[in-house]
Amino acid sequence: MLHYSRADIDQMDKIFRLNLINSCTGYKSANLIGTQSADGRTNLAVFSSITHLGSNPPLIGFVLRPTTVPRDSYRNIKSSSFFTVNHIHHSTVADAHHTSANYPEDVSEFSKTDFEAEYLDDFQAPFVKNAKVQLACRFLNEYPIKENNTLLLVSEILAIHVEDGILESDGWLNLQQAGSVTINGLDGYAKPELIERFPYAKPTR
Ligand SMILES: Cc1cc2nc3c(=O)[nH]c(=O)nc-3n(C[C@H](O)[C@H](O)[C@H](O)COP(=O)(O)O)c2cc1C
Repeated sequence: MLHYSRADIDQMDKIFRLNLINSCTGYKSANLIGTQSADGRTNLAVFSSITHLGSNPPLIGFVLRPTTVPRDSYRNIKSSSFFTVNHIHHSTVADAHHTSANYPEDVSEFSKTDFEAEYLDDFQAPFVKNAKVQLACRFLNEYPIKENNTLLLVSEILAIHVEDGILESDGWLNLQQAGSVTINGLDGYAKPELIERFPYAKPTR
């Protein structure tokens, strides 16, 4: 078994540490955030930190990297308050990964990939057409994480669009059925396989 102390981690090669620390907490969610600027320019970017914060009210959060360089998604979310979250299907991982490339703000990732923008229910931000799970979200608040100069953005879910055949009768989404992937580290995309669903756990002893 390998062992790394904190001193070892601090002395690691930068890329090795990046890969190790990004993968050591386990699989992460894989989503594309769709936004639109005040003057109508679309933007699409892959995010692996989107997570559930609470179901009533329905809240999600994600971590935004330091805004020391221009962040198009962040700027659009702050100016419009609205954004979409779209599951990444296993057939689209190469394009999904490509949305992390640093294009200038006047270049839409929709124009550099096969993803198509879709507008639903007059919502102001673009959804990813054919994504099996699509969320319409509104930004609520941001919290600085002082330790590494990142931000936690808290948002509410305004609407959920789910392709037929994924939602089960108790509200659970079968993500395997949706073909949604998970992210391993910063550049690995994996297909999870469901093992079992369990009833609410109760103490047995
Ligand atoms: C697998 C993967 C996951 C990512 N997750 C995040 C994330 O959770 N938060 C973040 O700020 N950037 C994340 N990024 C980086 C953004 O995708 C990247 O900075 C992108 O250029 C942002 O686009 P924007 O400037 O158009 O908003 C991730 C990149 C990859 C490849």
